[in-house]
Amino acid sequence: MIHPEHQRRAYLQAMGIDVWLPRDAAEPGVDASGGLVSAGADAMDWDELQRCVADCTRCALSKSRTQTVFGIGKQDASWMIIGEAPGAEEDRRGEPFVGRAGQMLDEMLRAVGLGRDSVFIANVLKCRPPNNRDPKPDEAAACRDYLERQIALVQPQVILAVGKIAAQNLLQSAEPVGRLRGRQYDLNGIPLVVTYHPAYLLRSPSQKRKVWTDLCLARKLSGIAPT
Ligand code: URA
Repeated sequence: MIHPEHQRRAYLQAMGIDVWLPRDAAEPGVDASGGLVSAGADAMDWDELQRCVADCTRCALSKSRTQTVFGIGKQDASWMIIGEAPGAEEDRRGEPFVGRAGQMLDEMLRAVGLGRDSVFIANVLKCRPPNNRDPKPDEAAACRDYLERQIALVQPQVILAVGKIAAQNLLQSAEPVGRLRGRQYDLNGIPLVVTYHPAYLLRSPSQKRKVWTDLCLARKLSGIAPT
């Protein structure tokens, strides 16, 4: 994607007009193939952000993905669910949480009276890491402002971080989920609750009770009355 600022500079230069930049002006980056990549996502609207993510080459995952997985749901949802990264099925279909973990997430949401279409679901990474390995810190850092912009656009009443990767990245913590869950955090003014990843629940159904407690806390913070 050609960044609009680059396009503007190119027009001005083509017209013979010198373009002066402050010494510390942020330059849109150049990717491995020499193409221009977009600068920050912090002022983008939904369409721009979606286009920018779809064309993203900020990290090496762009080479192995089938497609990016932007996120899905209600753009002004009260609840925002944040997971880790697309898996194989998500990479194929371009939608987050569509595999078995997705079915478990749907079940978790149903338990508090929510449907997939009434929340917004996104991931820390928009591209699938090969063999479903954990995201690397530089990959999460490269993707971070996309997620931050999604949060700023949705303005949810509550964020539910599911699993270690989402919780640790959002809270900039190294603590395990077992220690992070069960409490309320503040993410730039938005209440955030951590719970176990639905894929973990598939392996450890005995943790459902704790997840239920976390969901009830999130429901209370979101201002939705118990059903
Ligand atoms: N699918 C996703 O989209 N995110 C996860 O964290 C796991 C599966």
